[in-house]
Amino acid sequence: MKGLLLAGGHGTRLRPLTYTGNKHVLPIANKPMLLYGLEHLKNAGIEEVGIVLGPIREGVTEIVGDGSKFGLKVTYISQPEPKGLAHAVLISEDFMQGEPFVMYLGDNLLRQGVKDFVGVFERKRADCVVGVCPVTDVSRYGIVEFEGGRPKRLVEKPKASSSNLALVGVYVFSNSIFRAVKSIKPSWRNELEITDAIQFLLAEGKKVEVEHVKGWWKDTGKPEDLLEANQLVLADMQSDVKGELSGETSLTGNLSMGPGSKTVGTVRISGPAIVGANCVIGPDVFIGPYTSIGDGCKIRNVEMENSIVMKDCAIETGRRIVDSLIGSNSTIADGEKRMPKGYKLILGERSFVQV
Ligand code: G1P
Repeated sequence: MKGLLLAGGHGTRLRPLTYTGNKHVLPIANKPMLLYGLEHLKNAGIEEVGIVLGPIREGVTEIVGDGSKFGLKVTYISQPEPKGLAHAVLISEDFMQGEPFVMYLGDNLLRQGVKDFVGVFERKRADCVVGVCPVTDVSRYGIVEFEGGRPKRLVEKPKASSSNLALVGVYVFSNSIFRAVKSIKPSWRNELEITDAIQFLLAEGKKVEVEHVKGWWKDTGKPEDLLEANQLVLADMQSDVKGELSGETSLTGNLSMGPGSKTVGTVRISGPAIVGANCVIGPDVFIGPYTSIGDGCKIRNVEMENSIVMKDCAIETGRRIVDSLIGSNSTIADGEKRMPKGYKLILGERSFVQV
């Protein structure tokens, strides 16, 4: 069994954060998103993984390298244009060499991991296993419709459906998928859809099994999804304080703090929260629940809650920052002391600020 991790999408809905780097390395609880998928593949006993990358390779190759530090052998497969998930499968045929494989969408987080999917695939001698999860908005996902308890039809982003079960971003395939991806035609959005390829397997009488996912699943398409994924991961996190807490620090809830970090002066932390390595937090700081602060940040005189601050940021403002995504190397400074008062903003294209 091999693995296929997809990290080629442009992440347009996450701009400006994705202008300069690959969406799949944005941090969730201070860990690049695609490492969650990579670790799940490893935990399912997979040793060889192909990572499909588009033109934006920045970040992925530096973090993953040849995979050896994760106990994996990683091969990069280039997809010059995002032509769909089934297209990603098509270009990976040589890499698979006839073996079955788990395909994991690198922007999805699944608490359960992928081991159970592999188990179902082997036990039932299936050609395909898909994971499903109930959703409220069927038009955002691929939907599986059932008849007599068996999957009957797969529809990509329907306006409405008799089913509310969405395909989560994990699939197991036998090599029969390659005939399917070669037989289908591009969809209305000009992509080769994996839903159409699985529909082709059904039409050919192949065995398609469904795994109802346990625990949470999150597709991180939009900024609010990143914050929600961050909440879900932090809620499961244990306390692990490697840094130093000042005598005037009060802590409730779980905190993870990396080596070389410290709190200075009066600091109140209400977890779950994570602070990376080599950060200085304080004085006069409140860090509220579901906050992730990356390595090398300097945070003083601010209240923060439910936010992701990426590495090497400097934040000092007498205000309260909530529900925010702050890209690496950003500065948020206090403008109150200047006269005349006013906000001074240096924002990249497609930034969002609520003042
Ligand atoms: C893709 C798939 C869709 C699936 C979803 C899960 O959608 O096409 O079937 O439900 O991932 O995250 P996309 O991310 O391309 O919109």
